[in-house]
Amino acid sequence: MTDEDEDLSSLLVPQLYKPPALLPIAQLKDQLLYTIEAHPVTIIVGETGSGKTTQIPKFLLQTGWCKNGQQIAVTQPRRIAATSVAARVAEELDTPLGQTIGYSIRFEDVTSAITQVKFVTDGLLLREMLVDPLLKRYSVVMVDEAHERSLSSDILLSLLKKVLRKREDLRVVVSSATLEAGRFLDFFNPENGEQVFGKSREDYGRIVGIEGRTFPVEVQYLLEPTTNYVEAAVEAVMSIHENERGGDVLVFLTGREEIDDAIDMISDRIVDLPSTSQKLMPLPLYAGLPSEEQMFVFQQPPANTRKVIFSTNIAEASITIDGIVFVLDSGYVKLRNYDAHLGIENLNVVPVSKASATQRAGRAGRTRPGKCFRLYTEVAFERLEEATFPEIQRSNLAPVVLQLLNLGITNVVRFDYLSPPPSSLITRALDLLYSLGALDTTARLTKPLGARMAELPLEPMLSKALLQAANPEFGCLSEMLTIAAMMTLQGNAFVSHDGNKKQLDNARRRFAVAEGDHLTLYNVYEAFVKAGMQNVQWCRENCLNHKSMVKASSVRKQLAAYLDRFGVKETALASSSSGLLSVGGIPIAERVRRCLTTGFFAHAARMKSDGSFTTIDGKTTLWAHPSSVFFHRKADWVIYTEILSTRDKIYIRDLSTVDMDWLAEYAPEYYKIKNGAR
Ligand code: CDP
Ligand code: MG
Repeated sequence: MTDEDEDLSSLLVPQLYKPPALLPIAQLKDQLLYTIEAHPVTIIVGETGSGKTTQIPKFLLQTGWCKNGQQIAVTQPRRIAATSVAARVAEELDTPLGQTIGYSIRFEDVTSAITQVKFVTDGLLLREMLVDPLLKRYSVVMVDEAHERSLSSDILLSLLKKVLRKREDLRVVVSSATLEAGRFLDFFNPENGEQVFGKSREDYGRIVGIEGRTFPVEVQYLLEPTTNYVEAAVEAVMSIHENERGGDVLVFLTGREEIDDAIDMISDRIVDLPSTSQKLMPLPLYAGLPSEEQMFVFQQPPANTRKVIFSTNIAEASITIDGIVFVLDSGYVKLRNYDAHLGIENLNVVPVSKASATQRAGRAGRTRPGKCFRLYTEVAFERLEEATFPEIQRSNLAPVVLQLLNLGITNVVRFDYLSPPPSSLITRALDLLYSLGALDTTARLTKPLGARMAELPLEPMLSKALLQAANPEFGCLSEMLTIAAMMTLQGNAFVSHDGNKKQLDNARRRFAVAEGDHLTLYNVYEAFVKAGMQNVQWCRENCLNHKSMVKASSVRKQLAAYLDRFGVKETALASSSSGLLSVGGIPIAERVRRCLTTGFFAHAARMKSDGSFTTIDGKTTLWAHPSSVFFHRKADWVIYTEILSTRDKIYIRDLSTVDMDWLAEYAPEYYKIKNGAR
């Protein structure tokens, strides 16, 4: 442990704690409970930090909504919000997490038989509907942060509307930080003249607004646009620190790389501060941050220290941090975007909406009057869109379409969407699912392949590859289970210790194989098992994140259990040791790559002489991510399973070499359509 670590651990004790009784929502308790009792749908509108997420579930719990063994579900668009809020509520009720209060996110279920309030991701609740279509185990479902319009929460709202037509006892609470409330209520309301369980649109639902108790926030703009908002943010932080008294700073950037850069820059500047001045403590906050590190953000800094939190838009609404007086807004956000033509889903850095910018500014006025510095001009602000474009209109819909079909919704075009997606996105999703063999020519789910793909908690391409692995032609189930589990770590298997990049590169090289990243991941896992899964020291020596590796082993077990339920037994196939033997003369490494191709044929690319890649149509340039085996090595055709875009380049991360002929062999229809169209 370094000195710095010790410094931080002394912080763990004093928590900023505002007694729930003082939160703005406390005054509304009775009104809110009455509204929920009397109406199927309640829309709750209130500033971030007013107590919606943490207090409403407690109110419901205390008033007996869990009496008959039923539970309360609270959905969050993000995993980090589900886990941190659950922990907070458990703490307020002084009960261990996982008992009365629990959470459940993909591959991580912290609930028990006595759990009454369950925080879940919206995607996870959608999955639960496959086994419990009417969500009978819940008395109340609260869809939190609905204004964010995440793909899963939009679909969930549509499905809840259907369930409400069948369950008189269910209550739906929709919480929203902006003024989309009327729209949500309209969506749930019965048509004019229609009645649902004796209720007409006049008395079906209510909007409850919480009076925020926020302080004024002074907003300032740049006079000239900046070309580098990360640098501008760092400058502004230093200027605030030197010129403004007290109060923590929250900086909105778009992603982890920018956050790491900004923290590096600010750490360089801190060294120059006079030793007598107040200290500055930079902290990162983003979705993939290990939970031990997330906690620092919520804790009070040591005496005479100012916290500066560099965050993604996760701090915009999902997470409340007290003590923020200054907000710096880059004006940008990373949003999912899908190119239906290329079939590539990526994250693009785009300008925020006015609603987002307003929300960000509001973070500064929670404890006392604050200031928001927008790192863009006022003219630029005026040009921003009013609200964020719903995710459903810019996403790969294949996973959702697959789930809707599995729920028995056969006409996905005419489904009751809150905002209908463009038909091109639905067509593209149907095409892809058809090429994967999940749909037949009449757009019905195939059995068993399509139905099993829908059930596996993986995206359809990976589900397909995993399910094919059991096929005797490939005979690589054990290997694919490992690869799929390692892929869910999303590049977080390796870590550098104290920023030692060289050591990290060496460690990666130790496991690397010429066939690509997937088999490399397989090697890493095998070596981990061999070294003994409890061997933290070995992980450290090899720059592996021990927690992540343990997670992979848990995910692997869970995936194997799914397959087991489908009647596909891992043990019935060649074990990995005999996997070295060939099946039909084809070595295991090739069978694995062939098997991956059956799922990821749509993600094919070819290396050019300069080491970059092009997509099949030759129109888009892709770059191997520095963590990939092919960052240094040569290849010809590859398939990739992860794509990440930064402001100037599109990176592909997990790559494996393939033979061009395999593409046509495993996806004849897909490549026929493509070639015919051009
Ligand atoms: O959902 P909403 O934004 O309305 O508020 P909340 O998340 O329920 O937060 C209510 C209060 O609890 C805020 O004042 C937060 O500071 C506090 N809180 C906290 O200290 N730690 C958490 N992990 C969550 C909330
Ligand atoms: Mg909330």
